[in-house]
Amino acid sequence: TKKSHIIVAIDGPSGTGKSTTAKIVAKDLGLTYLDTGAMYRAITFAALEKGIAPENSSGIDQLLRSTRIRFDDQNQIVINGINREKEIRGKQVSEAVSPYSAIPAVRKTLTEWQREIASERSCILDGRDIGTVVFPHADFKFFLVTDLKVRAQRRFLECQEKGIAMTLEEIEKNLAERDRIDSCRATAPLKKADDAFEIDTTQLSIQQQVKIIEDRVGVVA
Ligand code: DC
Repeated sequence: TKKSHIIVAIDGPSGTGKSTTAKIVAKDLGLTYLDTGAMYRAITFAALEKGIAPENSSGIDQLLRSTRIRFDDQNQIVINGINREKEIRGKQVSEAVSPYSAIPAVRKTLTEWQREIASERSCILDGRDIGTVVFPHADFKFFLVTDLKVRAQRRFLECQEKGIAMTLEEIEKNLAERDRIDSCRATAPLKKADDAFEIDTTQLSIQQQVKIIEDRVGVVA
């Protein structure tokens, strides 16, 4: 039996291959891909640009009301009308994003937006709290884990390809630090949902992890 509207949640720590995997699955199965991390990065970029600290709650509220975020047809982030795809992947934003992501008002606004987008079409979303908070009743939930060294190496190659200047050491430190903050925050911490299917991708190629997900989802999508 095919369902007309489905939600697939892919959660896990930074650099486990969630977005690469989700993009391919989306294309293969005809789902819309929603990169929720890019949304948190976008708010962080806008806050840094305006010099609004995470502690400045009225500044953050104002920022949330005045910042327009969308994805263009290449799925690249557009903030207040300007393509900021490269900026949101860089060192500055990567190092600042976890404290901004911990702010309840930021999470509330972005969660609402994610639910809105996914209510209109079948989606695969990747993030930290999709299966636990955003869509606790998602049709499919996956939780990806990978050894830190392997994650850092993969992210390093990705940054090189995109022309983003970060050393392997910086990346590894950043991944570990983000995992710590993302897992320890009070609101919607990074956590495997009880009913999520865990995939350790340390020894897997992208094609292998895509297949594991598609074999489970493909039955109904
Ligand atoms: O997936 P990513 O590395 O682009 O995510 C960047 C940061 O955004 C991550 O360190 C924590 C935050 N994030 C979050 O709190 N909740 C999500 N659903 C997605 C990302």
